Amino acid sequence: MEDSPTLLTVEGLSVSFHQRGNFFDVLSNVHFSISFGRTLALTGTSGSGKSTLALAIGRLLPPEARLCGKITFCGKEIQNLKKSELYRLRGREIAYVFQEPMACFNPSLTVGAQLLECILLHQKNLRKFQARQVALDWLEKLQLPDPIRSYRSYPNELSGGMLQRVMLAMALCNGPKLLIADEPTSALDGKSCRAAVEQLLRLRSEFSFSMLFITHDIPLAEYFADEIAQLAKGTIWSLRPAISQKTFLP
Ligand SMILES: Nc1ncnc2c1ncn2[C@@H]1O[C@H](COP(=O)(O)OP(=O)(O)O)[C@@H](O)[C@H]1O
Ligand SMILES: [Mg+2]
Repeated sequence: MEDSPTLLTVEGLSVSFHQRGNFFDVLSNVHFSISFGRTLALTGTSGSGKSTLALAIGRLLPPEARLCGKITFCGKEIQNLKKSELYRLRGREIAYVFQEPMACFNPSLTVGAQLLECILLHQKNLRKFQARQVALDWLEKLQLPDPIRSYRSYPNELSGGMLQRVMLAMALCNGPKLLIADEPTSALDGKSCRAAVEQLLRLRSEFSFSMLFITHDIPLAEYFADEIAQLAKGTIWSLRPAISQKTFLP
């Protein structure tokens, strides 16, 4: 574990939100790092600041957030990046999947059009017909039952589980180094949750991306991660190796 170089380092990160004339602290002095190819699970009760931390890494917090500390990704300090570098970073180097796939899609465009846009945005050398093929290949990789039909579907025509696979295709299609998955299975029923976890494990071993896997489900974190960080009251209370429970089935 110690041999692989560090991909992401978070040092002394504090975040507070401005509300009605006051700042209230959500994160205070958070430290951790993730090495290439490793998965850190971030656990903690609802409201402990997990999503805030996830958004802070990609500088996606709203303007009312005040942030201090240092976030370094691939040797670059994220706070110092220019806007153009930040756009490249998000989607290409760091990708997100969220709990609610429906909220991530534009309801008036087909999911294929949205996946295509995401590919063309970051892989500018591709012509449109090539990007379309890349999109279809990804839908197939994500085991969508009928990739062409799924490609032409609007978000409301797909089930939650299928939409989540398209979201994952959007996250991975540009080959990110880090995938931040914020409670990706919480909105799914038991069977879909199990399928999503198995799929993520398969993709992680195929593409070797690092992960920040946010969950409040400790057994799932043990199953999935190399290390587990527990966030409570805005700070990391424990950071330890996962107990290898690879036989656990969520
Ligand atoms: N944009 C915001 N403005 C004000 N408060 C916020 C904002 N986003 C999150 N918070 C507050 O920050 C705290 C942590 O929220 P969050 O990071 O979503 O927790 P978790 O993901 O662990 O459930 C909560 O008290 C929440 O109300
Ligand atoms: Mg959250």
